[in-house]
Parts: sequence; C-alpha cells; structure tokens
Amino acid sequence: QIFKLGDYRPTDFVVERIDLTFELDPAATKVVSRMILHRREGVAADAALVLDGDELTLDGLQLDGNDIDPAGYAVTPDSLTIRALPESGPFEITVSTTISPETNTTLMGLYRSSGVYCTQCEAEGFRRITYFYDRPDVLAVYTVTVIARKDDAKLLLSNGNFLGGGDYDEGRHFAAWFDPHPKPSYLFALVGGDLGMIEDSFTTMSGRDVALKIYVEHGKEARAAYAMDALKRSMKWDEEVYGREYDLDIFQIVAVSDFNMGAMENKGLNVFNDKYVLADPETATDADYANIEAIIAHEYFHNWTGNRITCRDWFQLCLKEGLTVYRDHTFSADQRSAPVKRIAEIRLLKAHQFPEDAGPLAHPVRPQKYREINNFYTATVYEKGSEVVRMIRTILGAEDFRKGMDLYFERHDGDASTIEDFLACFTDASGRDLTQFALWYSQAGTPLVTVSTDWNEAGKTFSVTLEQSLAPTPGQSRKALMHIPLAYGLILPDGREFEGQPHGGEAGNGVFHLTKRKQTFRFAGVPERPVLSINRGFSAPVNIAMEQSIADLAHIARHDSDGVARWQAINDHATRSLISAARLSRDDRKLPSVAELAEILIATAADESLEPAFRAQTLTLPSESDIAREIGGNIDPDAIHAAREAVMKEVAHAGLETFAALADSAPTGPYSPDAEDAGKRALAATAMAYASIAEGWPDRLKKAFDAADNMTMMAQALQLLVYQFASAEETREALESFRARFADNPLALDKWHTIQAMAPGAKSYDRVEHLLAGPDFDRTNPNRMRALVGAFSAGNPTGFNRADGAGYRLLAREVIAIDKRNPQLAARLLTALRSWQSLESGRQEHARLALVSIREAGALSADVSDIVDRMLPG
Ligand code: ARG
Ligand code: ZN
Repeated sequence: QIFKLGDYRPTDFVVERIDLTFELDPAATKVVSRMILHRREGVAADAALVLDGDELTLDGLQLDGNDIDPAGYAVTPDSLTIRALPESGPFEITVSTTISPETNTTLMGLYRSSGVYCTQCEAEGFRRITYFYDRPDVLAVYTVTVIARKDDAKLLLSNGNFLGGGDYDEGRHFAAWFDPHPKPSYLFALVGGDLGMIEDSFTTMSGRDVALKIYVEHGKEARAAYAMDALKRSMKWDEEVYGREYDLDIFQIVAVSDFNMGAMENKGLNVFNDKYVLADPETATDADYANIEAIIAHEYFHNWTGNRITCRDWFQLCLKEGLTVYRDHTFSADQRSAPVKRIAEIRLLKAHQFPEDAGPLAHPVRPQKYREINNFYTATVYEKGSEVVRMIRTILGAEDFRKGMDLYFERHDGDASTIEDFLACFTDASGRDLTQFALWYSQAGTPLVTVSTDWNEAGKTFSVTLEQSLAPTPGQSRKALMHIPLAYGLILPDGREFEGQPHGGEAGNGVFHLTKRKQTFRFAGVPERPVLSINRGFSAPVNIAMEQSIADLAHIARHDSDGVARWQAINDHATRSLISAARLSRDDRKLPSVAELAEILIATAADESLEPAFRAQTLTLPSESDIAREIGGNIDPDAIHAAREAVMKEVAHAGLETFAALADSAPTGPYSPDAEDAGKRALAATAMAYASIAEGWPDRLKKAFDAADNMTMMAQALQLLVYQFASAEETREALESFRARFADNPLALDKWHTIQAMAPGAKSYDRVEHLLAGPDFDRTNPNRMRALVGAFSAGNPTGFNRADGAGYRLLAREVIAIDKRNPQLAARLLTALRSWQSLESGRQEHARLALVSIREAGALSADVSDIVDRMLPG
C-alpha cells in the first residue's frame, strides 16, 4: 500500500479521552481501552469507526458497557470496524486485547528488554497494543492504570503526572497516571520493571518545581549523572532561547538496552537507548558524552516542537524532527564551540544526507508518498530538515526568526500542524514571501551551484556569477528553481573584508539570494582583487563547483573571519589532493606533491592561537567515503584507501615532530567531559594517528593503550593498533585485555566489535564472520548488530566493498535473517548499500546480485521490501 500526501482526510470520529488499563504479564498482558468518542460534525450517520491494529486479537468489545453484537463489527489483526454507532453525542467504546511483550521482537509496541517492560509507539507501534486511531492528528487525554505482580514489575510508569497507586490484590500492585495534555498515540509510553534511579529537580522560569528522574539498570545510577546535568541545561536553554517552559510536575527518562533508535520523546516519559544515557570516563568517549548531551536535549526540546505542536500526518515528520534537530544543534553550539560543532554537522550531513540525496533512496524533506513510514526517519528528514530551518533563520535574520517561532508556538499550541502552517508563521512575522523557498521541502536532491568570478582591474569591479541546477531524483525528473541563500565574503589581499554591497540581485547581511537559474552580483569600487569566500558557515546544503586556486584557498584558510569557512578551505584543498592521489594510485604512478597541504596542516596543528578541537577537525582528512562522494562514480574503494594512506603518511613524515609532541598532549588529571578538555584529547588523538602512521609504532600505541585512564584515548589507541598493525602481537594483546576488562559492559563491548569491524582491508571480512560466530555476539540486540554488521557495512569501505562481493553477501544474509525478528533494524542496516550504483562495474554487479538475493528470499517485511524495491529500480 502506498500512502500519499494529497490523500489526507480527518477521521470520522473524534476521540475525547482514553482510559487504558494494563495487566502486565510477559506472555499475556491484558489491555483494556475505554474511549469516549463522538462523530465529527457533518459525517454521515452510517459512517463506521475504523481503527488500526497490528497483529492484534480482540478479546472483547463494548458500546456504552454492552457487548456489541458480532454483526455490528468486523475485526482482523490489523483493523477493527464498528458500525451502527450513535449519530450524535458522545459514546464509550471498550476494546480488550491480549498481547505478548516477551515475544514481541520488533521492538515496536509493548515489549520486554532485559526484564523491563517498555514501549515504542512512534510511528505506528500503538496499534500493536490496542485498536485505535493510530495517527498523529488524533489527540486525546490519556489516563493509564498499570497493574503488575510486584516481583515482575516493581516500578510502573506512564506519561504525565502520578495519580496514585498501591496494592491491588494478592502479590500485585498498581499505579495510575494522568496526562492532561492531549496527545497522539505515538507519544504514549509505559514502563514496568525493577530499575535504579537518580533524582533531581528543576525550577522553571515561572517558579514551578519539576521532579526529574532518570531510571537505569541497578548499579548503573552513577553513570546517569551526565545525562541529568544535560537535561537541566536543556530545560534552562529552552526557557532562555525560546521562552519555552516545561508543563508537567515530573519529567522522567528510562534507559533500555534494546532499542531500535536513539531515543523517544514520549510525553513526560522519554525512553532512551541506554547508549545515550550511560557515561563514565572509563567506558564512554568524548563523542559519547557529546551525543548524550545532544540527544537528551533533542528529546526534551520535542516537548514543544513535536508534543505540544505535533504533526498532522507522517508526511510532516520534518516539522518536528528537522526543527528539533535544528534546536539541538544550536543548543550544542551554545554549550560548546560553535564553529567546531558546525564543522561536525557539515561532515555528518555530507557523509549521510548527501549520498542519500544522490542515490536511489533520495526523497524530499517532506516526502510525497511512502510505503513504510519507518523508512523515512532519515538523514534527509532530520539533518536536511534542520538545514532548511537554519536557512529560514539566515533569510529572516535572528530577530524575525524568533518572532516567527513565537508566533508558531502561540498559534499552533495544541495543534497537529503542517509545514504550510509553520512557514506561514515566518511569513506573517517577517512579511517575507517564502513560496519559492518552500521548494526545499518538496524537491529532493542536492542543488549544485556553479560559481565563477571576474576581476576587472581597470574598473575596480568584481563580479560573482552563480548558477544553480538540480539533478533528477526518483519520481522527480524536472525541478523548479530554488531560493538558495549563500553567505559570502570578499577577502582583500591584506585579509580585510570588502564591505560594499553588490548590484544584480538581492544580497543583504553578507548573503547572496540566488533565486534565478543564473545571477551575477557586481561589486564596484573594490580596491584590489579579492578572494571570494562562498557558502560561509555552510549557509545552504548545496554542492559548490568553483575553480579556486590553491593560493586562494590558502588565503581563505588564513584570513576568513568565519572559522567554518577556514576549515572548509583547507578541507577543499585536502579533498583535491586526495582525489588526484586516488586517480594516480590506480595507475601506480607516483603521488603528486602534497607539500603545500602538509605545510598548512602542520602549521594548523602547531597554531596555539586556535582551539584544539578546531585543529583536530582541520587535521582530520576527508574520509574515504567523502572522497568517494566527491569522485562521484566508478568508485574503487581500494584506490581511495591507498591514496588517503599515502597522503596521510607524507603529511605525517613532514610533521613528525609536531605530531609526536601533540600525541602526548592530552590533559592529565581528573577527567572532565567538557568541550575544552575533549578538544585537547581530540587533538592528541588525531596527532597520534599521524605519528603512528609515520613511525610504525605498535609498541608506543600499546603503551598509550595501557596508560589511558579514559575511554577516549584508550579507544583511539586500540583503533590505531587494529587499523595499522592488524597482525601485531601488541594488537592481539590489547584486544584481549579490552575484552576481558569490559566483559560485563555491553556498551564497551560494542566498541570492541566496532573497532574490529572497521579495520580496513579485505581481511576484515573474515574477522567479522569470526565475530558474528563468537560468544559475545548477540543478534537480538540492536546496538550489537549495529556495532558489528552496521559498522562493517556502513563504516568500512575497503572491507565491505571487497572486490569478490563477500561483504555484500554477508549483509544480505544478515538482513534476511534479522528481518524475521526486527524489520526496522533490517531495513536500516540494508541502507548501507544505498550508493551501490556509484561503484565500479565489478563491485556493482556483486552488490546488485546481493540485493536481488534479498528480494528473492521471500516473506520480506514491508520495511525491507520497500528499501530493496527502491534500490533496485525496474
Ligand atoms: N522521534 C524519535 C526522535 O527522533 C525517533 C523515533 C524513531 N521512530 C522510528 N520508527 N524510527 O527523537
Ligand atoms: Zn526527534
């Protein structure tokens, strides 16, 4: 079945409230749902009530307390249709179902993970619990009563405020929760189990006290402290930056170890993958801490952008996700270093979203059709969705953007809204017409902006010509012209910026507004030939094609007032060197000189006036997949790997002293996860990579591994050992000692698997097969699957793309197997093949055959068949 954006229609009945009673039992949980409904005005008297289900069996059905005659309804596992309902006035429908949490391996609906009952209802999991209008535009007030054996579930949680609880009958107890805020079913949550807890409180700006509780496995309470701190900072930030206050007496977070994604913003009761809650220096890296901070913030911010204002239908998913990602990005930028955060965002966007937009899975930020909505929780909806919001801010300016957001909160609080509603707020607040801009929501693909400049020495004029194009994407062969805001600067030879305004198109506040196919912006009275810095801060998520000399890139790298642009210039320079090296190494010719690049990188490494985290980002060469993406087609991953190694080695030799010194520069003393210390560790870790590649350092890496008193430096040393000295004795010892030390820490063991899965080279395939068969592997745990199969297929270009196709066959086999348990996870893992058509022909054929083998495996979930069908056109 295909769902289309244009087919939206409100429900025939309105649900006013719902009372749910759960009697928890691992194999047979009884669910009774009592709903108060009324027929929507204007709806025909013979219209039936059609509710969604998914693998449900109906135990009982009543209208106003009386059993409904079997002739009055029709039921299947996925729908319940009730006819002959009152024409006017409210009525009560009672639906009873029995479900089995312990055998629910999909991790959607109510399931049990490590003895804890928990739910995941977004997008369509609630229909696995009871028959309901399981769609985001049906907002109801929920009361939830949970009954359980005390020895089965000591703790009973749901959304909203605690009403009361106590003993129920012999050996059982109950708890009741009331959420006064009308919400869609995807925000429902229930948790039952025996968990440890840490507690704190937050006083809101209007002086209300909110109890904050984070639940984790017993014994892990101390590892939730950072998450709690991040939560309090998030609450404060949303008050200060958006004027948004929390709206219940309690905010709870539960960490579970089996979870299909990062976390979920259920009203007042967030459920998290424990990977994004638990942290201590011994087991979490700086990146883990940063992710925890960002995801805690993200889910908290959803309380306003997602929960108070939700989506009319799932086509509008970016309304809450793109906006909330934008909010968490700016939160992290405020908490940490803004340019460093932005660089990381750009890297991530280009690594995940650009390839998605350039391949068979491309779709608009707001898709126009879908078969399986779970497959649209994508980099495009989330990350590009965030970039679109960022562009609105760039176009409107900070002040009008805030006015637009205020208006959105005021006008749509309590609504299930659309992108049109959202954009109208910015238009109304600023007077700016966003009609053309709105194409960012409906047109897929990454625009290409071709830039050329012209310097007229005699006339002292400088002109910039911009031309846009947008390649066809699946289902969209012809594209309209977009509104692309490109931040720019003209940097004069002495490093100062030229301040004059151009003619030829709209350009205010240092932003060219490209709205036509081709536009030329002319600057007059420019004293000397300037260097153009374009798409500063990555103001638009586009590809830029510009012939810029290395000298000009170096000028930007030295003088740009924008740190992101300085990084971008060096990164562009590095990309160029790497691409030409990749082309050459295939023909076995000598590496072209990278002396200039090395000089810039070494100078950056040593420049103490720059933040360490910025230096680390700059030293990190474009990844192998970055290079592949820039090359575009006929990709040979081995050639790219060899080129990157060769370039890195040259740079490393040239700067060995600097790198060796920096490798030892990680802060000593008590560990702090703050951005400053993390930046110093990042610089030391990057320098260690250079130094070890130049020196052949297994013994020193092993020493660094043994000496590390935090996971960041330990994981880096282990990773370098595995990547560079796979067969060294030191590597074997380090892997063994890591595994022994963290034998009872699943999150650390995930890292152990990931590091090995990502070791470059054809041999890593054998290692992955070995680990898959090993005692530590567990296919039922999504984190472990992602740590091994996901890391190998999405994070190991040379291993996964082994020329004989063994990597693709491994992925196909695992996807087919896991699809029977957990379709969402299977479909997600399969997207690792999204760029298969850009490979050289031999690998392409192996990849195609692997996809065909999945298609022919039969009995596929909707999730996996949707992905396979889109990846195998025709
Ligand atoms: N709303 C959650 C978040 O981004 C993610 C839910 C993902 N759901 C899914 N079915 N993939 O915070
Ligand atoms: Zn989200």
